[in-house]
Amino acid sequence: MFQKIGFIGTGAMGGAVARIAAQAAPEAQIYLANRTADKAAALAADLPNARVSTNEEIAGICDLIFLAVKPQVMPHALPALSGVLAERRDRFVLVTMAAGLTMETIRSLAGGDYPVIRMMPNTPITVGAGAVQYCGLGVTDAELADFAALLSEAGTVDLLPEHLIDAASALSGCGPAYVDLFLEALADGGVACGLPRQKAMAYAAQMVEGAARMARLSGAHPGALKDTVCSPGGSTIQGVRALEQGAFRGTVMDAVIAAYEKNLQLKQVD
Ligand SMILES: NC(=O)c1ccc[n+]([C@@H]2O[C@H](COP(=O)([O-])OP(=O)(O)OC[C@H]3O[C@@H](n4cnc5c(N)ncnc54)[C@H](OP(=O)(O)O)[C@@H]3O)[C@@H](O)[C@H]2O)c1
Repeated sequence: MFQKIGFIGTGAMGGAVARIAAQAAPEAQIYLANRTADKAAALAADLPNARVSTNEEIAGICDLIFLAVKPQVMPHALPALSGVLAERRDRFVLVTMAAGLTMETIRSLAGGDYPVIRMMPNTPITVGAGAVQYCGLGVTDAELADFAALLSEAGTVDLLPEHLIDAASALSGCGPAYVDLFLEALADGGVACGLPRQKAMAYAAQMVEGAARMARLSGAHPGALKDTVCSPGGSTIQGVRALEQGAFRGTVMDAVIAAYEKNLQLKQVD
């Protein structure tokens, strides 16, 4: 198992993954570095096995190094650590969660053919109901297994070939934002029909969570599940008609494709 786990960037996603790792590996030391150091300090204060660190210290001593900065920051932050990494004689694994950036790009920015894991998390990992896809380059099976075990409390942790990570990111990584829009719209509709705002939001979230759980646990096609709600001549089919007139499914497909295309653009680092 990894003993010294570092996080370069403790923002929304780095912070969330650090919390999961700190809980899963209480015997490990967690090192937290962030451009605005107060953010790392606030997180360290919450985690008994974590302390504030620097990018350089993490690059020099950690055996698992999470790179949790924005993709646009990576071409500056990672080459700055290449000297420290090159001096190391012990084994370490770099973990990138940056949208769009391949493991080969991370190696090139880090300045060496180091072992790399690429992961794609989503925000529901903060409540243990997330999805993480991952793949590795130059990483042993044991290291991949240790990595998956470290994040098992995040939700589902799934090994995926690297060429599919951008697609998974556009759906699963970005998807919580699409669902949040849907929740807001559902609640607005409820309010328009007279429901108090708090109740409308609670019903919308419970309904979406329940429908998703039903689809996942039953394995049934969503179209078949939709049919079971639509009674002939009933009200639900009228709602479905309104959604189809608004090009609901085509719009949702376009959202995933637009995010995918942006991921492909992010690959062009100079
Ligand atoms: N958010 C998501 O849903 C999601 C999903 C999948 C993947 N990701 C990936 O996760 C990564 C982080 O995204 P995020 O949403 O967590 O962004 P974020 O909240 O902006 O966090 C990025 C953090 O990096 C810090 N930082 C910037 N430059 C740094 C440097 N040179 N050294 C150390 N720390 C530095 C920032 O510090 P400051 O406090 O100074 O700004 C900030 O706290 C991105 O690569 C993104 O593609 C995010």
